Amino acid sequence: MAVPGVGLLTRLHLCAQRRTRVQRPILRLLSCPGTVAEDLRRNEQPSGSVETGFEDKTPRKRFSEMQNERREQAQRTVLIRCPEKISENKFLKYLSQHGPINNHFFYESFGLYAVVEFCRKESVGSLQNGTRTPSMAMETAIPFRSRFLSLKLKNQTSEQSCIQSSDQLPPSNRKLVELLCYAESIDDQLNTLLKEFQLTEENTKLRYLTCSLIEDIAAAYFPDCVVRPFGSSVNTFGKLGCDLDMFLDLDETRNLSTHKTSGNFLTEFQVKNVPSERIATQKILSVIGECLDHFGPGCVGVQKILNARCPLVRFSHQASGFQCDLTTNNRIALTSSELLYIYGTLDSRVRALVFGIRCWARAHSLTSSIPGAWITNFSLTMMVIFFLQRRSPPILPTLDSLKTLADAEDKCIIEGNNCTFVRDLNRIKPSGNTETLELLLKEFFEYFGNFAFNKNSINIRQGREQNKPDSSPLYIQNPFETSLNISKNVSQSQLQKFVDLAQESAWILQQKDTDRLSVSSHQPWGLAAILLPSVPNRRSVTNKKRKRSANESIKNLLESLKSNRTANFTETNEKRTISTQT
Ligand code: GTP
Ligand code: MG
Repeated sequence: MAVPGVGLLTRLHLCAQRRTRVQRPILRLLSCPGTVAEDLRRNEQPSGSVETGFEDKTPRKRFSEMQNERREQAQRTVLIRCPEKISENKFLKYLSQHGPINNHFFYESFGLYAVVEFCRKESVGSLQNGTRTPSMAMETAIPFRSRFLSLKLKNQTSEQSCIQSSDQLPPSNRKLVELLCYAESIDDQLNTLLKEFQLTEENTKLRYLTCSLIEDIAAAYFPDCVVRPFGSSVNTFGKLGCDLDMFLDLDETRNLSTHKTSGNFLTEFQVKNVPSERIATQKILSVIGECLDHFGPGCVGVQKILNARCPLVRFSHQASGFQCDLTTNNRIALTSSELLYIYGTLDSRVRALVFGIRCWARAHSLTSSIPGAWITNFSLTMMVIFFLQRRSPPILPTLDSLKTLADAEDKCIIEGNNCTFVRDLNRIKPSGNTETLELLLKEFFEYFGNFAFNKNSINIRQGREQNKPDSSPLYIQNPFETSLNISKNVSQSQLQKFVDLAQESAWILQQKDTDRLSVSSHQPWGLAAILLPSVPNRRSVTNKKRKRSANESIKNLLESLKSNRTANFTETNEKRTISTQT
């Protein structure tokens, strides 16, 4: 999770306005035509924009294409700490001495920062060549050449600031509830929530840039390494403020030695050997952690968590405000991100529903940034995907059916696990299901409020309930390591809390009349009502109402029994059955 109080949380509409007013004319002057980034600007929209309708006909990029494109952009980009007051025109003029600029934006995170993407990589080198190491009066600076720079004013004359930059915080809960109250329908509410919380284009760029900066540091030891973002930063389900999961990929280094050469000989690198893959991972992360701690500009609070099931280095990247988790030897997680990317891109309802459920769970403390017995966002996403696979007709295909669509290129085995599935989104047929988000939200709560968690497991590979293989309260099969449960950590009491809240929310959403009254009086209704903390009063009202309706059913049953006594025997039996069902 992000460092508290550090905001990169761009609001889409604010940004759009600002960019139109300030950046567009400058972009026209300084950008070079025909580049990937110019293409992107043409289609500029957040990493997962809100579409209306269920089917988007534009060809969709493969996960690997998207990752490569953004990584290449990030390599041409620098991060600059700016003086408080700065003229945007002068700033761009100064930097464009090193080459044309393709794209830039400013943000605030305990100071003003600029992200500047050049058209050409050489411009970065040229800028670095004209950059000096600061001389400190009291302390000693360790010289370190990176793409994270500081811009100082030569003579301390104060500049007239022409930059409109906000602190880019996400809407507060109060503001969100207010926004939701003004929406016209629950569908509208879910799409509003998605728009407010999804990662913006700028935030996504900053995530790739941060990975690229860390890659430069790791490259001191492993020159061919790649640091790839995974998890919610790239799987289309990232909420502003989510952590930045990074994967240090050393496969390029390994693959270089597989290049064939002619002749009778074969050369191999001399290497050190260790007893296991895990020890290798720990050693690699240990030195990278040290390096980040001692020399990584802006990397603070470095913790080496090497004895975890999945060893990692955790740190805060101060300038971007991201809480980062760096892992290696975690390729399956990268593949899971690719699978979620496919599910999130296939149908516009998926992300809206996942964001709604994630926000709902957070609002009720069902999820937490502290590890523990809570449900994770990853598990919640799996539950939504499973629920959408269970609709009739299904909104999402099962993982097994994605496997049947795979071609030779998609074949993928990781550590003995079959991770094959179709990577080309355009080969997956869109769903014919046209259910509204409102219906799906209600039914999600109904479905999981009544799910037989005591005996069934959730399995997105087959898209059907299965017997639980063990007694964990919540069993969600890991899609790739199929003998593992991704929600093994969840306690019975946390699961029960989830079920109670799901039932309560289903009940609240069914109160159609209350909804109508609330829309006109701007009282929290629909999604806003279920995001409010579950106050004991409301719960007891819900329980009372539930009790009342149970009492009414019993009364009806007794009355029907009484009246049936007078009827003939065969009829009684039939009616009894009917009243019991009621
Ligand atoms: P946020 O809460 O927004 O950070 O969601 P996230 O999806 O990024 O979750 P998290 O940071 O906890 O984990 C990052 C990624 O690691 C996930 O997206 C998954 O791909 C993977 N992952 C997390 N937890 C598990 C797990 O229990 N089992 C497996 N196999 N993968 C996991
Ligand atoms: Mg994450």
